[in-house]
Amino acid sequence: MAVACALCCVQCGPSDAPPSQPANAASDMGAAGLDLANASRQYRMKCAVCHGEDGAPVLATAPDLRTSTMTVEERVAIIAYGKGTMPPHRGMLDMPTIRGIAVYIEQFRN
Ligand code: HEC
Repeated sequence: MAVACALCCVQCGPSDAPPSQPANAASDMGAAGLDLANASRQYRMKCAVCHGEDGAPVLATAPDLRTSTMTVEERVAIIAYGKGTMPPHRGMLDMPTIRGIAVYIEQFRN
């Protein structure tokens, strides 16, 4: 109950986020029920060291996430499996978290 409310507040940012919330958002971390608060926390711990807190690269070879044109699916793949010097994260993050981060980083594009 309280959990579901915490989830809807963080969804307010991106205008292209799906407007509907499933009733079982807390148990089903599907498209609209992503835990973006957790995604933001994980991003700052695991990704900001190279990609910066707001997507502006810290590591010279890291792409600027503010101008990335990748789809969410492509991001999920690169976060899970890595590419070049981008390390794979599937061993340390579960798939709902990886998907949450892939959606979370969309907001850097504004
Ligand atoms: C060690 C530094 C490093 C860390 C940590 C890191 N990345 Fe990356 N990331 C890179 C590099 C370098 C690339 C470019 C890979 C390539 O194309 O060869 C990249 C590419 C990407 C891309 C593709 C962007 C595009 O448009 O090409 C995304 C999305 C991304 N990273 C997200 C993340 C997320 C989310 C995390 C945390 C889970 C993360 N990265 C952690 C270095 C890092």
